[in-house]
Amino acid sequence: MKWPLDRTVNKVHSMLELNGASAIVTGGASGLGEATVRRLAAEGMKVVVLDLDRQQEKGDALAKEVGGIFCAADVTDTDQVIAAVEAAKELGPLRAAVNSAGIGWATRTIGRDGQYSSAHDLELYRKVIDINLVGTFNVTRLAATAMSNNEPDADGAKGAIVNTASVAGVEGQIGQIAYASSKAGVIGMTIVLARDLAAAGIRVNTIIPGFFDTPIYGPMQEMKDNLAKTTLFPKRLGDPAEYASLATELLRNSYINGECVRIDTGTRMQPK
Ligand SMILES: NC(=O)c1ccc[n+]([C@@H]2O[C@H](COP(=O)([O-])OP(=O)(O)OC[C@H]3O[C@@H](n4cnc5c(N)ncnc54)[C@H](O)[C@@H]3O)[C@@H](O)[C@H]2O)c1
Repeated sequence: MKWPLDRTVNKVHSMLELNGASAIVTGGASGLGEATVRRLAAEGMKVVVLDLDRQQEKGDALAKEVGGIFCAADVTDTDQVIAAVEAAKELGPLRAAVNSAGIGWATRTIGRDGQYSSAHDLELYRKVIDINLVGTFNVTRLAATAMSNNEPDADGAKGAIVNTASVAGVEGQIGQIAYASSKAGVIGMTIVLARDLAAAGIRVNTIIPGFFDTPIYGPMQEMKDNLAKTTLFPKRLGDPAEYASLATELLRNSYINGECVRIDTGTRMQPK
């Protein structure tokens, strides 16, 4: 008996064309974002490296190296993000946005002394939510608005967005309440964004990274070594290029939508 799918095996389904289009990568001057900028440029994209103005020097150098441009912007600032989106449109149709900007924070919910004053600083909690969650949504809503004006391809596709959560958004550890809340929000909005943007031909997926070797951990080699020990296999920190490879596949593969994908060696975080 013939396998019923034989007739489709050799059919080439359309992939989102990245070559010649533009992309925005937030947090693009460092770590996972930087690796994604390099990879998307290698795929023929014109890339806007969006990052804070304090990253101007690094961002400019990277943009120059890959033939893109650096836009100083805070992901929570609507006018600055719109300016970056408009700059991307000048380079080519905006078909890809990767949200990699983010900050980490570690504080427990209450202090040890039973005093209200030692409870988790509410402003710090708000700040982490603001950058990691509200900022991701801000860039998504504005980039998607620009993408919705693109000419659709044969599949009706106009663009794709990749957001970045964290394994902490699924099994956050002691002291990760603000960060875990923000990343759980990014995970939670994935299917809703995919549904909201389906009619506009825009897909949205989320990457859930484990531990990657980036500047987010600072120069603390001992901490990195300890994190590497918690991985399953392979027993090492992730290479940002491995994240960038997944991000590129999620942008390109037309049949992946509304999905959250772990890239973490199979590790599961313990309470601490
Ligand atoms: N490295 C890891 O192990 C890991 C694990 C899980 C999730 N993540 C997530 O991946 C993303 C990238 O992390 P990374 O490791 O590359 O960190 P990183 O510190 O190397 O890079 C983050 C970049 O985001 C930028 N940024 C911060 N706040 C911003 C703002 N308000 N507007 C614009 N840019 C801003 C920073 O300037 C920096 O260049 C983050 O969202 C992080 O939470 C990282």
